[in-house]
Amino acid sequence: MVDLILVGFMGSGKTTVGHLLADFIHRPHLDLDQMIVAHSGQSINQIFTEHGERYFRELESKTLASALSEDGVLSTGGGTPVSLTNRQLLHEANIPVVYLKTSPEIILERLQDDHTRPLFRTLDKNRLIELFQERESYYEQSADIQVITDQKTPSEIVHEIKVNI
Ligand code: S3P
Repeated sequence: MVDLILVGFMGSGKTTVGHLLADFIHRPHLDLDQMIVAHSGQSINQIFTEHGERYFRELESKTLASALSEDGVLSTGGGTPVSLTNRQLLHEANIPVVYLKTSPEIILERLQDDHTRPLFRTLDKNRLIELFQERESYYEQSADIQVITDQKTPSEIVHEIKVNI
């Protein structure tokens, strides 16, 4: 069974923090996007371009359902908690969920040269802020604790998670 789940917007540090946490508790790190890539044999960009977002979301739900029974720290994708099915899966799993909360301004800065996130590339600044606001309540509903990540190093974030879980 997964030990801990990280949720949050694209660029909030789920993968970096997930790796550090997993190392700390001597568990594997599970990255939902990487699992989807490994199962499908296609990059996230390819899946979006060739099959569309809807197909990606189906893969994401199926992969989440199977990932939850594996061992380790699970970093989800930024859109994972948007689906009710996924939120129910997260809730029923009864595993601590941490929301990494990062301001849209910092996300924009971090991801400005990113080409691996198909959704991010299609968003201008205003739409990114809107999407962030649309999703925020889903992250909050899914999470047991929230960590504000702005101005914190990954190690500080890991420390804050450890003392609050
Ligand atoms: C997405 C976030 C990405 C990835 C896909 C869609 C989203 O994961 O799952 O590109 O809808 O926010 P990261 O949060 O790891 O970037």
